[in-house]
Amino acid sequence: MREFIKKVIKSNQFLSTIYFSHYYNKKPLSNDKALMGKMQQLGHSIDLKLTQKKEIPHALLNEIRFILKRAKRRKLQLGATYLWAYKMYIMGKEGIPNDNSNGMEIPESAQVHLSGNQQNLIDVMLKRRSIRRWKDKKISINDIYNIIEISKWAPTSCNRQFLEILLVDDKTNKEFLTTFFPNDFYKNAPLLAIIFINASLYGSNEKHFAYLDGAAFIQNMLLLLHSRGFGACWVGFKGWNGLGEIFMEKSKYEFFYKHFALNPVLIPISLVAIGYPDHQPGAPSRQDLNKIILSR
Ligand SMILES: Cc1cc2nc3c(=O)[nH]c(=O)nc-3n(C[C@H](O)[C@H](O)[C@H](O)COP(=O)(O)O)c2cc1C
Repeated sequence: MREFIKKVIKSNQFLSTIYFSHYYNKKPLSNDKALMGKMQQLGHSIDLKLTQKKEIPHALLNEIRFILKRAKRRKLQLGATYLWAYKMYIMGKEGIPNDNSNGMEIPESAQVHLSGNQQNLIDVMLKRRSIRRWKDKKISINDIYNIIEISKWAPTSCNRQFLEILLVDDKTNKEFLTTFFPNDFYKNAPLLAIIFINASLYGSNEKHFAYLDGAAFIQNMLLLLHSRGFGACWVGFKGWNGLGEIFMEKSKYEFFYKHFALNPVLIPISLVAIGYPDHQPGAPSRQDLNKIILSR
C-alpha cells in the first residue's frame, strides 16, 4: 500500500516536486558531482527503457525533471552531462528512440584525426556503444574463442591470469541468469559470457586486484567485439562478491553453483551479452575534462 501511494505521488508533477524536495533534502545531493552523477543515472534509465521500447514511467520523468531544474538553479555549468540528460528527458517524454540518427554524436573534442592504426584504435574506442538489442542471427563460436584468445593479453596484477569464463547460449540457462543479474534484456543476446574471478588466490591486501584484472579483460573483449562487428553490453553483477559478502539468501547463492557445477571460489563479476547489433545507440555523454583532471 505504501509503495502504491509513493508511486501515485511520484507520477503527479506537482506532488512529485514536493516529494523529491523532501527526499533529496534528507539525502542531499551534497555536491555538484553527486548531482551530475544522478542526472547521468536517470538519463541512463530513460535510455534503457527507450532501447527496450518500453513505456517510460511518469515517476522517472518527474524525477529527472526535478534534478535538471535543481542543476539549473544551482547554476551548474551546463556541460555535456546536463545536455545529455536533458535530451534523454525530452526523448523519453516524446518517445523518440535514442539512436545516432537523432544527433547523439561523440563531441568534436574527442575526435582526433590520425593516420593508420592509431586512427582505427581511436575509432573503436569512441564508437563502441553498449548494445542491448540483437539480431536473430547466429554467431560463430570460433570468432568468440579468438576474441577471448586475444583479450587474455590484457594486463593482470603480477600476471596472475586467474580469470575463467562460462559461455551460455541456451534459453534455459539465460533465463536462469535473470534471477541473478539485473534486468533481463541480455537473455535475447545469442551468447552470454560470464566472467569469474578467483579472489581466494590473491593476498589479503590485494583481493580487489581480482576485480581490476577482470575489468581490464572485459574492456579488451568489448573493444574487440565492436571492431569485429559484434554488439555487446557489459552487465554488472551485484549478488555476492570476492570479499565473501553475499546479498541474497544463502540457498539461492548455493543454487547458482550447483546449477552450473562450479567451484564456489569462482565469483561472477559481470556478464558480457554478445550478438549482432539491432540498433545503433547515440553516445551517452562523458564528463568534461576539467571535471576529471584535478589540477586543471
Ligand atoms: C561495471 C559495469 C556494469 C554495468 N552494468 C550494466 C547493467 O547492469 N545493465 C546495462 O544495461 N548496462 C550496464 N553497463 C553498461 C553501462 O551502462 C554503459 O557502459 C554506460 O552507460 C556508457 O554507455 P556506452 O557503453 O554505450 O558508452 C555496465 C557497465 C559497467 C562498466
